[in-house]
Amino acid sequence: MPTDPRLVAATRADEEAQYEAGLRPRTLNDYIGQDRIRENLDVAIAAARQRGDALDHVLLSGPPGLGKTTLAYVIANELQVPIRSTSGPVLEKPGDLAAILSNLAEREVLFIDEIHRMSPVIEEILYPAMEDYELDIVIGQGPGARSVKVPVQRFTLIGATTRTGLLTSPLRSRFGIVHRLDYYQEADLQEIVRRSARLLDVPIDEAAAGEIARRARGTPRIANRLLRRVRDYAQVRADGVITPAVADAALRLLEVDEHGFDEVDRKLLRTIIEKFNGGPVGVNSIAAAISEEKDAIEDIYEPFLIQIGFLDRTPRGRVATARAYDYFGLQAPERDSRLW
Ligand code: ADE
Repeated sequence: MPTDPRLVAATRADEEAQYEAGLRPRTLNDYIGQDRIRENLDVAIAAARQRGDALDHVLLSGPPGLGKTTLAYVIANELQVPIRSTSGPVLEKPGDLAAILSNLAEREVLFIDEIHRMSPVIEEILYPAMEDYELDIVIGQGPGARSVKVPVQRFTLIGATTRTGLLTSPLRSRFGIVHRLDYYQEADLQEIVRRSARLLDVPIDEAAAGEIARRARGTPRIANRLLRRVRDYAQVRADGVITPAVADAALRLLEVDEHGFDEVDRKLLRTIIEKFNGGPVGVNSIAAAISEEKDAIEDIYEPFLIQIGFLDRTPRGRVATARAYDYFGLQAPERDSRLW
């Protein structure tokens, strides 16, 4: 087993990715939740298939774990075309992307995860490829340099990002289909837990599936992760069946509370309340105070805390709501709303 924390994290992510891949739905029919997006994609995919054309480029945004990658694979499967997968930070040199693009088959899907982390020179390669299905290759250097156009196959780019606001506007405007994935409804998550348990061959009570769903922060990846931990607990400390009591005991042991908060959520809220008098406070100050990356706060923690009404984003900074004070058994201060 690796001991370097980065290796441990990578191993864990890998294990999770493999586990997730086994549970991933392969068709739109098997995909649970996000109904409006599913229906829109169903129409666009059917139309492209009828025309025998490549699907328009698709941009998927939303917090991590909501199924952007899953959806990209579902789209390629429904189109009955191959998919090639890469990510923004991996593409270092323009040649890396040019090589991928020039090797695409007709109508193939190219999936770029974390597309907002692509460097500007790589973006420049992508524009003509997306728009006119051609590459502008510069040959030579200095005044003698020439640009030649090389055609690429008609393909579909699927980009995934946590926030569309992180993309430059020329890139954003080149996507014909743009969808934002939202946190899942509890009933949908419950169905996802039941489906995963069935695939894993673990007996689970309906109410226990609901208990896991309630504490999964609206996020299928978290629901599946919790299910895996609860399954361990059921196997070792019970008779293998996930009942509500088993789920509750396992989740307590993991210190996942009734909102699905973890250590970081609690630390973030407590810090705003105790160190910054409840706010308003800027995200940089919060990041420094709790030693977390600003990006992780903005992409992972904040959106959920805002969604469930524990945090407010105001022009002057982040503010802990009365609900957040209640959660810690504290009295919220009287506020003059004009100051927010
Ligand atoms: N597993 C992860 N996300 C899923 C989803 N949206 N539908 C079905 N199974 C899933």
